[in-house]
Amino acid sequence: MASKEKEELRPFQVAVPLQRVVFGPGTVDAVGQEADQLGCRRAFLVAGPNTSRTLLYDRVRRSLGTRCVGEFTGVQPHSLVPDTERVAVEARNLAVDLLVSVGGGSASDSAKGIAILLAEGGALAEHCDVFTPPDRLVHRDLRRPKVPLIAVPTTASGAEMTPGCGATTPDGIKLKFWDHKLAARVVLLDPEATADVPLAITISTSMNGFAHCVEGLYSLGKNPVTDALALQAVRLFAGAVPRLVADPADRAARGKIQAAAALGGMVISNARTALHHTLCHALGGRFRVGHGDANAVMLPHAMRFNLDVTAPEQAQIAWAMGVADQSDETAAARAADAVAGFAKRIGAPGRLRDLGVPRDQLPAAAEDVLHDRGLYFNPKPITSAKLILAVYEAAW
Ligand SMILES: [Fe+2]
Repeated sequence: MASKEKEELRPFQVAVPLQRVVFGPGTVDAVGQEADQLGCRRAFLVAGPNTSRTLLYDRVRRSLGTRCVGEFTGVQPHSLVPDTERVAVEARNLAVDLLVSVGGGSASDSAKGIAILLAEGGALAEHCDVFTPPDRLVHRDLRRPKVPLIAVPTTASGAEMTPGCGATTPDGIKLKFWDHKLAARVVLLDPEATADVPLAITISTSMNGFAHCVEGLYSLGKNPVTDALALQAVRLFAGAVPRLVADPADRAARGKIQAAAALGGMVISNARTALHHTLCHALGGRFRVGHGDANAVMLPHAMRFNLDVTAPEQAQIAWAMGVADQSDETAAARAADAVAGFAKRIGAPGRLRDLGVPRDQLPAAAEDVLHDRGLYFNPKPITSAKLILAVYEAAW
């Protein structure tokens, strides 16, 4: 491991999007003011059916007042391509100049998908990145200016922070897009406003935010800046999520989870994600497994798969989680178990079979993974679906 410490840093770049993160009680009531500051007058609200019935949604709508010219409250998990394409036509007809998402990653992903179509036109599939295994990534440059996004996240995915988004086709393939102009311009984090979010959702999306930090620490896109952000977020998640599980009214813990999620979003905006996320995307696209639940199950297995080339990074993860082992080697070897133990302690699922994933369809999911952009950033090259299937089988 010492030899790896002497290795030179890989070339890197750090992009900091034009973005403001505002944290504190009552921040959601300032959406209208934020819209004014951006010079926007025609806002379009995007949320899922459950979120649209919450007090939080009412507060956002009230704050926007007459600035709100339309809304889409039918966001589905994994953000569906036909919905986004239909709603984008509506938003264009309304001459929308601002998108406001309220909810989790699917709400902000849907808003970003609408922003892509408003700017670039055409169909979503014309604008996604295309990865050809084992190592060819064709990135589609989305050059046109995008309508700004104000995000009010209710989960710990941190998706709104990133330049990326996904949208799922009717045949279950998750298309991926990347444009720095898509990252939310303003992110409003209000620890009070998320008090109605079911604990199970906070737990599962925390596993997603947590996985962003773990993958960010060993992805090929990692750099010293994202390392620092990721380690701090790992510490925050590891401390705050068990506290919230013990006492769902713990506002301080809720706030720390929100902050950790935002850090995780900043991590993957630059370090990107790797094998683990490709495994989760295929489970979501093909079997509609919730992204957070997939994260909870798959993360320890992806870590074990990558351990032989990422031991120093995994030792850091273990230490940040409080594993007291002094030796690099043993701490690294214990990192995946520490993550599995953390998931279990907070009540997250632990096996694919418990999520309704049919074992006989795992080979098809493994094939889907081979075409996912995330493999490009995995520290270990993956050239065959067989390797992927073995990871799925272990998790089943
Ligand atoms: Fe994720």
